[in-house]
Amino acid sequence: MSIYTTLDEYIREQHESYTLTIEDKDYEYYTTVTALKDGVKVAAISSQLLFDKYMEFDGDLPEDEIDSWFPGDIIVRIEQLNVYDSHRRDGIGTTLVNKLVDVMKKRGYNQFYLNAYPLGAISLTSLVGFYQKCGFRILLHQNHNVLMVKVI
Ligand SMILES: CC(C)(COP(=O)(O)OP(=O)(O)OC[C@H]1O[C@@H](n2cnc3c(N)ncnc32)[C@H](O)[C@@H]1OP(=O)(O)O)[C@@H](O)C(=O)NCCC(=O)NCCS
Repeated sequence: MSIYTTLDEYIREQHESYTLTIEDKDYEYYTTVTALKDGVKVAAISSQLLFDKYMEFDGDLPEDEIDSWFPGDIIVRIEQLNVYDSHRRDGIGTTLVNKLVDVMKKRGYNQFYLNAYPLGAISLTSLVGFYQKCGFRILLHQNHNVLMVKVI
């Protein structure tokens, strides 16, 4: 089943020329928020629901530490955030993260997690700073990536 909603009223508040869409696959299991400009995709972010937090962090964190970071059961894992080059530093990445968090929060999910791993010109330090500005905290530094969490 697929649900498709256009939220152009919301985005006009922040970016006059952008439209946001939200698409779910397998009910709320996979969710994607896409930013469009003049009908063309310029950025997107996705999430997936995690039902087994112990399996997700197996080998990285002991179970009591997992419980202290994530007191509840279901975690929203954020992934695949990408803003096309010519549209960066215009707030759209922040808007997408906040919109996804907002949508999932309204559905009853309050635990968010991501693996910050830079895919373009941005450095890991800047990427972590970007997510910190979105309210995420550092959970774990790994070799070339940083695990980050937001519980609301
Ligand atoms: C990371 C990314 C999504 C940021 O999107 P964006 O729309 O450019 O980010 P925003 O405009 O919302 O930036 C918000 C703040 O984050 C920080 N930030 C964002 N990009 C930055 C950069 N390249 N260098 C330093 N700080 C940066 C700044 O503090 C910025 O605020 P400012 O512009 O007022 O200084 C974008 O650079 C991108 O798509 N990168 C390639 C893909 C990628 O690495 N994805 C992450 C996978 S985990």
